[in-house]
Amino acid sequence: MLRHVLSAGQYTRQSLEELFDLASNIKANPEKYSKSIEGKIVATMFYEPSTRTRLSFETAVLRLGGQVISTENASSNSSVKKGETLKDTVRVLQNYADAIVIRHSDVNSATDAASVSRVPILNAGSGKGEHPTQALLDMYTIREKRGKIDGVKVAILGDLVYGRTIHSLIKLLALYNDVEIYGLSKKDFMLPQEYIDFLKEKNINYTICNSFNDIPKDIDVMYHTRIQQERFEGDFGKEEYIINKEVLSNFSENTIVLHPLPRTGEISEDIDDDPRALYFEQAGNGLYIRMGLLLQAFNKEVVE
Ligand code: CP
Repeated sequence: MLRHVLSAGQYTRQSLEELFDLASNIKANPEKYSKSIEGKIVATMFYEPSTRTRLSFETAVLRLGGQVISTENASSNSSVKKGETLKDTVRVLQNYADAIVIRHSDVNSATDAASVSRVPILNAGSGKGEHPTQALLDMYTIREKRGKIDGVKVAILGDLVYGRTIHSLIKLLALYNDVEIYGLSKKDFMLPQEYIDFLKEKNINYTICNSFNDIPKDIDVMYHTRIQQERFEGDFGKEEYIINKEVLSNFSENTIVLHPLPRTGEISEDIDDDPRALYFEQAGNGLYIRMGLLLQAFNKEVVE
């Protein structure tokens, strides 16, 4: 069976833990994996801008001994510009590459690609829908810092409507016990009802907050996100809820601050040196999670 990564919803608690253990092993012994996917070629097709996801995936391939082919800015430089569909692009690329990493504005892009592909598809962000590999590294970072995920209290902030990392994160958090989630956003960016219903179904307490004061002081994780201005018409103004030194001073010394990045002002640089500000470390973990995902995609988790 092909090991696509399409949605956070495909993971079980066990498969998550296996990936996290693999990522930790890679992080501790990177040289052990340096030839694991020798001879494999991975295509990266990014129809939307990216710094972290694309470059960490490409680094992951290289660190595992594989090779990368890519189209710089696929939306303007690939044959989609001439009217080719994503499915046709995949039908062609699978003749050249052994796996395909795709970021696209269409929420169905990854599943569409997988429906015609005989090589693994890795979803690097599908419109406002999902960003599963980001949520996997977010969860990994929480587990690394906290030791466990059961019982975690997470505040999600920013753009809860168009923030695809949020949607994937919620699905993964729902796999664990006694999780509490608090949402703080401007009214136009509140968590859509479908996700609130999903959390209710999973017996996860979701609390809508109106200010930082409504978030418990001993919250484990504050997960902020950027307003995804590129995904909607109009201007709903800037983020109101900014995590800065003063705000963070009200929270526990064990509260960690995460952000998928890029940030656009919602986290002030004045907390960057605070040991609770882990967003750059979080981005660093993306490399190990994506190395793990590639090993799994090629069934190479076990290295002799
Ligand atoms: N977090 C994230 O997806 O960042 P990039 O857009 O830079 O890939």
